[in-house]
Amino acid sequence: MNDVFMNTYHRLPVTFVSGEGAHLFDVNGKRYLDFGSGIAVNCLGHRHPALLEAIKAQSERLFHVSNYYQNDTALLFAEKLTAAAKMKKVFLSNSGAEANECACKIVRKYSLMKYGEGRHTIVTLKGSFHGRTITMLSATGQKRFHTNFGPFTEGFRFVEPNNIEELKNALDDSVCGLLIEAIQGESGVIPQTNEFIAAAAKICDEKDILLMFDEIQCGMGRTGAFFAFEQYGVKADIATLAKGLAGGVPVGATLAGDKACDVLVIGDHGSTFGANPLAAACGIAVLDTVNNSGFLRGIAEKGAYFMDKLARLNNPKIKSIRGKGLIIGADISMDAWPVLEKLLDRGLLVLSAGAKTLRFLPPYIINTDMIDEALNILNGVLDSQS
Ligand SMILES: Cc1ncc(COP(=O)(O)O)c(C=O)c1O
Repeated sequence: MNDVFMNTYHRLPVTFVSGEGAHLFDVNGKRYLDFGSGIAVNCLGHRHPALLEAIKAQSERLFHVSNYYQNDTALLFAEKLTAAAKMKKVFLSNSGAEANECACKIVRKYSLMKYGEGRHTIVTLKGSFHGRTITMLSATGQKRFHTNFGPFTEGFRFVEPNNIEELKNALDDSVCGLLIEAIQGESGVIPQTNEFIAAAAKICDEKDILLMFDEIQCGMGRTGAFFAFEQYGVKADIATLAKGLAGGVPVGATLAGDKACDVLVIGDHGSTFGANPLAAACGIAVLDTVNNSGFLRGIAEKGAYFMDKLARLNNPKIKSIRGKGLIIGADISMDAWPVLEKLLDRGLLVLSAGAKTLRFLPPYIINTDMIDEALNILNGVLDSQS
């Protein structure tokens, strides 16, 4: 089936042609409940009216204009996004890796300008995932990403999540930035502890190390707060978003507060498609829908319902459950991939995160009936697996 694609993905045997709400439809018209949301991208589900309207209206007016000019839609998006994020300024790009790359450029330049050479190390966490460019592979704290494509970008150091002593030792005088996923998505939905995040924020503040949160998977309302790190009561110098930010249209955002918002100057950074009006229009639609306390509370409530029901399945094949809002992981006693295949057969799309962890990232528009249906299918499939 895939002779024309480079063989970079382990794809499940299904071809989708359309979607509606929390459902996808394949070439044969079979319906699937989508609890993966294109890996946290389709946060409003498929064909959400606000997104349809936004892209239609914008496409009738203006597709693209270069960053040598301004466009009204990107400006409005940037205003709304910085307000929602409680940040000063934003750089718009097209993906998560690009958003993180921009963040790392900012912290390195901030430090160079203020302290001179030799303070360029960026600390990230073991198990993290920050993207696929060569520098973001370097930033990713997993050895398996550090092969085949060398030489890699220098200057990254890794610490064990939730190990405050190791973090203290790592944040020495050579460090300019700390990059954290408040909840690590790819490595199995691993939340950081309150103590760890508080310690990280305190040390960064004392040492003028810029604190960056990679909110690409866990942000944009997914935990029930706009940013996952807000749940820890700390502030970020820089936060990155992508994935769900425009509900299915490529966009990345690097948001910076007081310290970091004016570090990059003309010529330092750029992106042809960054601030693209179509993506910006969709970003506005997502922000206008998600960024209000009632909607965010709904995400938190649905997440709590899901976690509670998942626990109450009492299925012996489920070993542990973690998560917040609608980012939920479940360790199971068997390999995840065959389970995903079986779930697909039964019309439920779920993701894995690590060999034996199922990851649920449903769209925010799911309801309790859909959660019940998904858990029913899951229970049946787990029971049927030996
Ligand atoms: C936390 C996190 N950061 C960065 C990325 C990279 O984003 P992209 O694939 O859009 O470059 C991902 C993608 O899975 C992610 O989950």
